[in-house]
Amino acid sequence: MDKILVHGGRPLSGSIKISGSKNSALPILAATLLTKETCTIRNVPDLSDVHYMLTILSELGAEVERASGTVIVKAEKIKTEAPYEIVRKMRASVCVLGPLLGREKEATVSLPGGCVIGDRPIDLHLKGFEALGAANRVQSGNVKVFASQLTGSVVNLRGKFGSTVLGTDNVMMAAVLAEGTTVIESAAAEPEVVDLANFLNAMGAKVEGAGTRRIIIEGVKELHGAEHSVIPDRIEAGTFLVAGAIAGEELTLNRVNPDHLRALIDALRTAGYEISENGESMKIKGRHAPKFLELTTEPYPGFPTDMQAQMCALLCKTAGLSVITETIFPQRFMHVSELKRMGADINLEGASAVINGRESLSGAPVMASDLRASAALVLAGLQADGITEVNRVYHIDRGYEQIDEKLNGAGAHIERVKA
Ligand code: EPZ
Repeated sequence: MDKILVHGGRPLSGSIKISGSKNSALPILAATLLTKETCTIRNVPDLSDVHYMLTILSELGAEVERASGTVIVKAEKIKTEAPYEIVRKMRASVCVLGPLLGREKEATVSLPGGCVIGDRPIDLHLKGFEALGAANRVQSGNVKVFASQLTGSVVNLRGKFGSTVLGTDNVMMAAVLAEGTTVIESAAAEPEVVDLANFLNAMGAKVEGAGTRRIIIEGVKELHGAEHSVIPDRIEAGTFLVAGAIAGEELTLNRVNPDHLRALIDALRTAGYEISENGESMKIKGRHAPKFLELTTEPYPGFPTDMQAQMCALLCKTAGLSVITETIFPQRFMHVSELKRMGADINLEGASAVINGRESLSGAPVMASDLRASAALVLAGLQADGITEVNRVYHIDRGYEQIDEKLNGAGAHIERVKA
């Protein structure tokens, strides 16, 4: 198992190229199960989560080829039960339910287990499938959904914490082959949902309204093969933007879509950081004495929960009292105790982190608990005195393609060593 050593205090400059989006690639790869024909997906990031999804597709019977960012899938004959051994490694495996149900009218996957970022039920996914006429049964840790036929209908996917991203994806993928028209109310509007809808339409589906809270899907008889290029990863880009705020003289991000990062850009500008945009590139300059902030995470286009931990790392050294409130995963603060080990002054009050900015942080051995928390610890290490040793970096490899090499290319000094 690897660990990462971050040597603090190095300024960042130059440019970083952003990879394809993990949270877009995963449901799009699952959607290739909806057709017997060949699908070609480009700009697919090289991540362990993508590897898990490709293994699931192969286990379900699809032919899968992969070569440097391009994945070719042909799901001519498929099974309808996804193997527990792989599914348990990645929650997002749940998004094969919709395509299998849509095409084969039945699907079985293991119920996702516990997650360190908080409670993550799939009741809204099942509610959506039920509205289309599918029953479900939970047995021996698996959930099976099945139907003699799927019929379009109106379903509201609003939950206690707002809409659901993979729930919207799953219901959309089941509804594209249903009889009649489906209307999803309180749909998630994330750019990744739009990217999936664009791919489904390229396969011959009839999806309208993706990117709004109301998605309308007119069912079709069958779908054909298609080609698609995955959008840039806005959370990877956001993480590097914060790295630029923390240690950047002048850091440029290439192959990024600034429109997908509005809430983060607004927050950083409010804190006083200079950010310029030029088509698919952005530039950020770090600064002295940035202003403290009050932030609340919300479904897109609000401030993303997947950037909350990274912002905590930034605000640890921003003078004044900052407050970050987490409304999507109220317990998503595993990074706080590790940041405090580096000398940060943070108090958790309910679902809010109250951060009293300090002059300095000191490098320390810290433990990654989940994907975004591990990114936050690397960012904290960039601004800490001495060396920060981040353990369990397999978390970071789930969602960041070569993060250490990319940051080293911009002037950081990060080593990856065997633990
Ligand atoms: C997606 O997860 C992302 N994952 C997450 O990113 C991201 O944090 C999350 O959306 C929110 O933006 C992928 O796209 C693979 P949700 P998802 O269903 O779809 C509750 C990362 O770091 N809920 O939108 O699983 C749920 O508990 C990952 O890349 C229900 O109550 O999240 C949560 O509180 C982490 N019932 C809220 O809704 C349901 O049936 C939003 O969850 C489904 C969800």
